Amino acid sequence: MTTAGNIRLNTGASIPPVGYGCWQTARADIAAAARAGYRAFDTATFYANEQAVGQGIRDAGLNPEDVFLTTKVWRGDMGYAQTLKAFETSRRLLDADVIDLYLIHWPQPDSRLITETWRAMEKLLERGTVRSIGVSNFEAADLDLLAQHSDVTPAVNQIELNPLRQRKSLVAENTARGIVTTAWSPLGQGGPVLHNKTLLHLAEDHDVSVAQIVLRWMLQKQIVTIPRSTNPARIVENLDLDGFALAPPEIELIDALSV
Ligand code: A2P
Repeated sequence: MTTAGNIRLNTGASIPPVGYGCWQTARADIAAAARAGYRAFDTATFYANEQAVGQGIRDAGLNPEDVFLTTKVWRGDMGYAQTLKAFETSRRLLDADVIDLYLIHWPQPDSRLITETWRAMEKLLERGTVRSIGVSNFEAADLDLLAQHSDVTPAVNQIELNPLRQRKSLVAENTARGIVTTAWSPLGQGGPVLHNKTLLHLAEDHDVSVAQIVLRWMLQKQIVTIPRSTNPARIVENLDLDGFALAPPEIELIDALSV
């Protein structure tokens, strides 16, 4: 795995800035993404496709160690012993020795469940079966809870983020704590984001797609993205971001689209 342009995590590991979001994708899509050049794959127990992710990567002639693998512990598997067990299941399904990043998928109202899950994740880090641990969908108060109970800061907070929902205060919270932000559904699940007038104008100006404008904006803001697509041309397009750059005023135009 080449690390040029990757974003450094607080564990010393580095993550490719654009990964393939595996939610609602199948083995053939994963293989197409790997062949297109994606070197990071984001899955979860909840997606029920970890085995397909492992197989798709191999179908493309790669090994799990050639890519950055993220998976997540689901709500029903939280707790110390349960998390350790769920992790082993994920690792077996992905057929990988080491997982690059293991995340708590969602915070829970029961704070003990969160802290016990985190304790298990610290154990996995200690054992070396994960390289980095982090969280997903955590608000500042959830991050506070972890900080009160642990010296290990999450490497990543993966949150829903797109130009029309920028979550600026949470991103600032992440950054202040040394946590890298990853945007899930960066394209707004194919909804109004892709029809936004400002973004459409920028796309015309640069002769690229709106999706490429959005992903390039995140790339320049050092926000990790994991766009999803099952369309072969769009899988390629979403990784093709190096042929143009947004100027500071263009970045500001997008920044102004939401709080
Ligand atoms: P498709 O699989 O047909 O490409 P998100 O990653 O924000 O959740 O968005 C995923 C949605 O956006 C999917 O419906 C996907 O449809 C669509 N999508 C992904 N990439 C592009 C693109 N480059 N242009 C238009 N739509 C896209």
